[in-house]
Amino acid sequence: MTEQRSACAAGMHIVLLGAPGAGKGTQAAYLKAEWGLEHISTGDILRAEVRAASDLGQETQGYMERGELVPDDLIIRMMEDRLRSLGAGTGYILDGFPRTVAQAEALDAMLARIDHPLHAVINLEVPDAELIRRLSGRRVCPQCNAVYHVDTMRPKQDGICDRCGAALIQRKDDQPEAIANRLEVYKAQTQPLIAYYQQRDKLVTIDGTIGVPQVAVEIHRVLCGGA
Ligand code: AP5
Repeated sequence: MTEQRSACAAGMHIVLLGAPGAGKGTQAAYLKAEWGLEHISTGDILRAEVRAASDLGQETQGYMERGELVPDDLIIRMMEDRLRSLGAGTGYILDGFPRTVAQAEALDAMLARIDHPLHAVINLEVPDAELIRRLSGRRVCPQCNAVYHVDTMRPKQDGICDRCGAALIQRKDDQPEAIANRLEVYKAQTQPLIAYYQQRDKLVTIDGTIGVPQVAVEIHRVLCGGA
């Protein structure tokens, strides 16, 4: 990574949009490592709450396991707290938020209140058949949230996280019924955000079927220009 690359992205506020399995978490981790941006994943935050058996975790667990969206008011409150806790000048990637038009409107209001501009919304486009293949074979680390795939992104040692050594698991919402539900929910409730951000001239769509490093290069190109 060149100095110029990291300076270009420092302090940016980016939304990653895309269907379940489009590669939002994978790209966010990659961009965090490369650019030092905070990775704020609503899914990771909620799964940590479930593991901790907190009030929020108990309230949201059922929605998540069924592949339904958690109610807007819970998510909006959670994200307002999270964004307010960031130091001035912190750059971040929002992964999994917003997911409904109500959440997008709330995010606009939040960002205006804390005086953070939204630099871009990156939409990763991947066909359904590939999404299903990716989600069915995904394995995740419950400790550090690293993401793998049984065919295309295998850990060095079977079933063990390369990064922290924990045993990998399959998410409950990566079972066939929940995957089908999540894809329907995405189309009904999240896809309208494509038009929402297009109208606000924030949206950039990237082909998410190219390899992981190539998608990262594309994201860099659209945000910073050049190769
Ligand atoms: P969340 O955790 O956000 O799930 P999601 O949006 O369904 O997204 P995923 O994590 O499944 O996919 P991803 O796009 O991050 O793909 P990944 O990088 O892992 O949310 C879970 C649940 O929490 C929701 O269902 C809901 O209940 C609740 N929730 C969260 N936010 C909410 C909100 N705002 N409002 C209401 N409810 C909310 O990649 C997938 C696989 O593909 C991996 O195996 C990876 O190795 C592979 N892969 C990635 N990129 C590539 C590539 N370029 N080429 C080949 N393989 C690739």
